Amino acid sequence: MAAKHIILDTDPGIDDALAILLAAASPEIRLEGVTTVHGNASTERTTRNALAALELAGLTHVPVFKGCHAPLVKEPLLSPETHGTTGLGYAQLAEPLIQPQAGHGSDFLIEQIMARPGEVTLVAIGPLTNVALAIRKEPRIVQNVKEVFIMGGAILHPGNTTAQAEYNTFVDPHAAHIVFHSGMPMILTPLDVTYQCIFTKDDLNRLLNIASPITKFIADSTRFYMEFHDEYQSIDGCVINDPMTLALTFMPEICDYQNLVVDVDISTGVGLGNTFADFYNYEKKPKNMKVAMGVRPRIFMELFLERMEKLARRIS
Ligand code: RIB
Ligand code: CA
Repeated sequence: MAAKHIILDTDPGIDDALAILLAAASPEIRLEGVTTVHGNASTERTTRNALAALELAGLTHVPVFKGCHAPLVKEPLLSPETHGTTGLGYAQLAEPLIQPQAGHGSDFLIEQIMARPGEVTLVAIGPLTNVALAIRKEPRIVQNVKEVFIMGGAILHPGNTTAQAEYNTFVDPHAAHIVFHSGMPMILTPLDVTYQCIFTKDDLNRLLNIASPITKFIADSTRFYMEFHDEYQSIDGCVINDPMTLALTFMPEICDYQNLVVDVDISTGVGLGNTFADFYNYEKKPKNMKVAMGVRPRIFMELFLERMEKLARRIS
């Protein structure tokens, strides 16, 4: 199968950084660019972290474009308790030598998608502000993008930010609403499947059998992430949402999918940012996305571990 041309819209963020490492270790993917967004940390910080992670992974040729600094309507909601003040937990990556490109991330998304109709796979693993802005600036990207993989939402699973809301849709529910209603060909990876894929201390110890800046980064970043999951959700390990979303671009068989009518609550009450599926389609609406609702966790985790081991052996 020819490599997929992927643009990653991301808020690194510990699991975002792991997705960048997975991209570097996956020949099925040709990472054409990275656009950064506010979320786990400020856009200044997520951009620095993206550059540093790309440099660590040997992807210094991949262009990075800074995107939106705040949600479309709400104020930013950073998550230092989850990803640390740097956004990468306890990991300390050197100041990156590479710099972001000139231009806004939303414009890079438009330019790439319009220049290569039907060829660009967009993987959105942060709040959807850049993607929503790109749709508003150039609605034709809806027809020209090949597919859009979105990490976000919680359908039947509890939220990880409020009782029912997942972080990416809670931080910018208005952007999520624009994207969900856009008509883009979307594949959603919600907490319903990501919370079944826990990266454990045993998984980390397996990687630490290989001495490498890669395994040191994974250890230092996920140690913080595991402390958060233990303290806030009594989980022994950490949920690596973003690399799982990226893996579905080339190994869809990890999950089982349902075509559903999915929406996001933008009312101003306690449900703001909640996502839900009309499983019985009471309102007879067109099904707007393919949703991963079942998963084979060990198939994904084995893929992730094997690819990290391969990358760690390559980068010593
Ligand atoms: O809810 C998990 C998602 O929010 C992940 O993408 C994480 O990196 C944060 O962006
Ligand atoms: Ca993310």
